[in-house]
Amino acid sequence: MATITLHPDFRIGPVDRRVFGSFVEHLGRCVYTGVYEPGHESADEFGFRGDVAELTKELGVTLVRYPGGNFVSNYVWEDAVGPVEDRKPFLDLAWRTVEPNLVGTDEFLQYCERQGLEPMMAVNLGTRGVAEAVALLEYCNGEAGTKWADMRIANGREKPYGVKLWCLGNEMDGPWQIGHKDAHEYGKLAAEAGKAMRLTDPSIELVACGSSSMQMDTFGAWERTVLSYTYDIVDHISMHAYYEEVDGDRASFLGSGTAMERFVERVVASADAVGAEKRSDKRITISFDEWNVWYLTTRFPGEANLPIQRNAPRIIEDRYSGLDAVVVGDLITTLLRHTDRIAIGCLAQLVNVIAPIMTDPAGAAWRQTTFHPFAEAARLASGEALQVQVDSATMATDKHGDVPTVTAAATVDPDTGALALFVTNRSATEQTVTLRHPGATARIDGGTAVLADYEGARETQEHAEAYAPVDALPVEHGDGTITLRLAPESWTAFHGTMES
Ligand code: AHR
Repeated sequence: MATITLHPDFRIGPVDRRVFGSFVEHLGRCVYTGVYEPGHESADEFGFRGDVAELTKELGVTLVRYPGGNFVSNYVWEDAVGPVEDRKPFLDLAWRTVEPNLVGTDEFLQYCERQGLEPMMAVNLGTRGVAEAVALLEYCNGEAGTKWADMRIANGREKPYGVKLWCLGNEMDGPWQIGHKDAHEYGKLAAEAGKAMRLTDPSIELVACGSSSMQMDTFGAWERTVLSYTYDIVDHISMHAYYEEVDGDRASFLGSGTAMERFVERVVASADAVGAEKRSDKRITISFDEWNVWYLTTRFPGEANLPIQRNAPRIIEDRYSGLDAVVVGDLITTLLRHTDRIAIGCLAQLVNVIAPIMTDPAGAAWRQTTFHPFAEAARLASGEALQVQVDSATMATDKHGDVPTVTAAATVDPDTGALALFVTNRSATEQTVTLRHPGATARIDGGTAVLADYEGARETQEHAEAYAPVDALPVEHGDGTITLRLAPESWTAFHGTMES
C-alpha cells in the first residue's frame, strides 16, 4: 500500500517541452538508412524517410541534438556543406566508420524545419577550437555580408537558421574522446569558445560539458572546475547517463531512476556551490542531453574494438524488452520531477542506435518497447509539474541501497485542468495506491500501462511490434481520495483533471 499526495498549489515549475528531445548522431545507422535513405519508398524529395518522420512525430520529440556525440569531436563541418558531389568522405575516428558527408549541417537543419523540431547543435572542441566553432555559428545564424554567412547563402540558404542551443563539445572528460582534455584545459577552451560565440550571436544558449557519467573518477571535481571558468558564460551543464541490467540484477536495474535522481541532485549541488562562491544570482540548469537504457558494458565491445567500416554499419542496435520500457518510463518520471533544474533532455538516440525507432534498409520502420512510455509522457505532460509526495515501501538493491517501490511525477495544465500522473511500480507484486488531493477536486479518467512482463520483444521485429501499452487497472473514486492499482513491475500514465 502506498500513498501519493498532490496539491495544486505545490508546484515545481513549468514543464519545459525541450525535455522531450532526442539525438541524431552520425553513428551506425542513425543517419544513413535511419532518418535518411534516398531511394526508400517513403523518402521525401530530400532523401529523408517519411516513415521515420511519422514515427518521430508520434513519439512526440520536440528537439534533436546533432551531429554527436563522440562523432563531433573529430568532425570538420565545412566538408559536409555545399554541392554534395564535391564532398569527400572522411574516416570518423570516434566510430571508426567512413562518413560519406551526404548529410551535413544544411540537410539536418532543413529537415528540422520541415518537421517542426528544434535543433541543438554541438561544436567540435576535440580536434578544433574557437575559430571553427564561431565559423559554424556564423554559417548557421549570420546575416548576409560576412564570409561564413555568405557561404551558406551561396549554398542555397538565404535565411539564417537561428539555431538557439549549442553544446560546447561532447564528453570532453572521457579518455575515449578524440581530443580529450582535463577539466582546466576544457574549462578554459569552453569559456573562450562560448565568449566568442556569444559575441557572434548573443541570443544563443550554451551548454558546457559535464561528466560522461556519475561513475567517472573526475565526477564532481570536473563540474566544479569547468563551471569555475564558464559560469558566467554558459546557461546549462550537460549530464549523460545510461542504465542496463547487469548479471540479472533486476532490482538494481529497476532502481535506475533513483540513481538518476541522485546524479541530478549532485550536479545541481556542484553547480550551486560554484554559484555561491561567486555570489551569483544566476542558476545553471541541466541539459540531460544523453540518457537511455544501453547495454553498454554487457553488449558493446567498445569503440576501439570496432573494425573500420563503411556504408552505415550496424553499431549499438540494442533491442529492448518490456523491463527496459518500464525503466525508461521511470527515467522520464525522474526528469519530470526536476523540471525546475532540467531544461533539456535527449533520449539517446532517435533511430537504430539504442533507439525507440528501428528501420530496415529499404524496408519497414517500427517501434521498440521504449517508444511507448516516451510517447505517452510527451503526449500527456503539460503545464506545470507538481511536487508529488510519495510514501511507499522500499526495496533493497545491490547497487543503490534501498529505493522506493513506487515513484511518481505529475503535471497539471492551469488553463484546462488536465492532469497527468506517471507512476512506476518497481516491485514484483501488484500495488494499491491511495491518491490524496487536498485543496482540489480530482478525477482520473483512465490510463495506460507499460509492463515489464514481456521478454520476447528483443527477439524479432514482430515481437517488438506486438508490444503495446495496456489499459491501466481500474480506478476507484472515493470521498477526497482515489484508489489506483499498479500492475507488478509497471509504469502507468494516468490522465484526468484537477481543479482547485
Ligand atoms: O550515444 C552514444 C554515445 O554515448 C555518444 O556518442 C557519446 O557521447 C556517449 O558516450
